[in-house]
Amino acid sequence: MTKPSVPMPASSQFSLTPDMTICRLPIGMWQVSGAHGPIDPAAAVRSLFQHFDAGFTTFDLADHYGPAEDFIGEFRRQLVAQRGTDALTAFTKWVPRPGRTTRAVVEQAIDRSRRRMGVETLDLLQFHWWDYADAGYLDALRHLAGLQAERRILHLALTNFDTEHLRIIRDSGIKIVSNQVQYSLIDQRPEVRMVPFCQEHGITLLTYGTVCGGLLSERYLGKPEPGRRELTTASLQKYKQMIDAWGGWSLFQELLRVLTAIAEKHKVSIANVAVRSILDRPAVAGVIVGCRLGVAEHIADNRRIFDLRLDEEDRIRIAAVTLKGRNLFERIGDCGDEYRG
Ligand SMILES: NC(=O)c1ccc[n+]([C@@H]2O[C@H](COP(=O)([O-])OP(=O)(O)OC[C@H]3O[C@@H](n4cnc5c(N)ncnc54)[C@H](OP(=O)(O)O)[C@@H]3O)[C@@H](O)[C@H]2O)c1
Repeated sequence: MTKPSVPMPASSQFSLTPDMTICRLPIGMWQVSGAHGPIDPAAAVRSLFQHFDAGFTTFDLADHYGPAEDFIGEFRRQLVAQRGTDALTAFTKWVPRPGRTTRAVVEQAIDRSRRRMGVETLDLLQFHWWDYADAGYLDALRHLAGLQAERRILHLALTNFDTEHLRIIRDSGIKIVSNQVQYSLIDQRPEVRMVPFCQEHGITLLTYGTVCGGLLSERYLGKPEPGRRELTTASLQKYKQMIDAWGGWSLFQELLRVLTAIAEKHKVSIANVAVRSILDRPAVAGVIVGCRLGVAEHIADNRRIFDLRLDEEDRIRIAAVTLKGRNLFERIGDCGDEYRG
């Protein structure tokens, strides 16, 4: 088996389960869905190779991220053919439309992802549900657990579930490994209820939006507030809204200035500081960082996250600004509530 050519430090690895070790910086693939501009399939697969070779061996995708599952399938085939290895981990999601979730419906969805990704067993299946008033999510999860028993899924996980419903699921005896939630220096809602619950029950968090689609970077330092037309990806639009809800552009600039000072002190980037701040928080297994595969990449910069150690002074300086923002838990609700009106 060929190993990635430049090994990552041991601190980049995390045992998500006894049988699955992941890179703590999974590469997010929402960016190939079409909502972030066009993607060339061949260039995307080449970029997956570049990430893999740099040690980014874990990927986050979903059934509804356009061709993401097909890209992983193609990447895996080429990796096996060229290198004799398929040592990647790929997390997908099942985001069913509201409606009945019979065993046949669940089975069809999971088998489709298995076919597209070219695997017998999905490494991690993250389940999303739109409407808690419809208790069908428990039926769906029981069917998923049945498919897990048949090894069509290795581990079951959730995305955008709040603490109350994570508790209901756990109490019903379904074993959940992780919950994928928005978590950044701007959006710290998980700390109110989700993190303590996860710590108590041995569940981990995979976070997204941690660099706010790129807003938490030098690119926006000292810049006037961007209008909607300048926010050219779905991620930028999504997290700009979160910044508006939190405290607005002027407070965001204050945060960028503090992050710049800390980044300069450690000779890293603003994005590095933003990611490290969340990676160090309790219950966080990994920070998913999105990539426009074949269009823009930050491989060398993102590798530096594993050499960065923030100190107490850094944390105090960051908190002094983030605490000036509004309480998003009170304003929006718990994790994922923004998806449920
Ligand atoms: N479960 C859910 O509901 C959900 C929702 C959203 C996302 N996700 C997952 O989480 C992933 C990440 O979320 P996201 O893409 O929305 O937000 P994100 O990771 O905060 O933003 C990704 C963007 O940040 C920029 N970036 C990355 N590294 C950088 C660096 N070192 N320096 C400067 N800029 C950098 C890039 O912008 P440029 O391309 O412009 O350079 C990249 O496209 C997604 O791909 C997806 O897999 C899940």
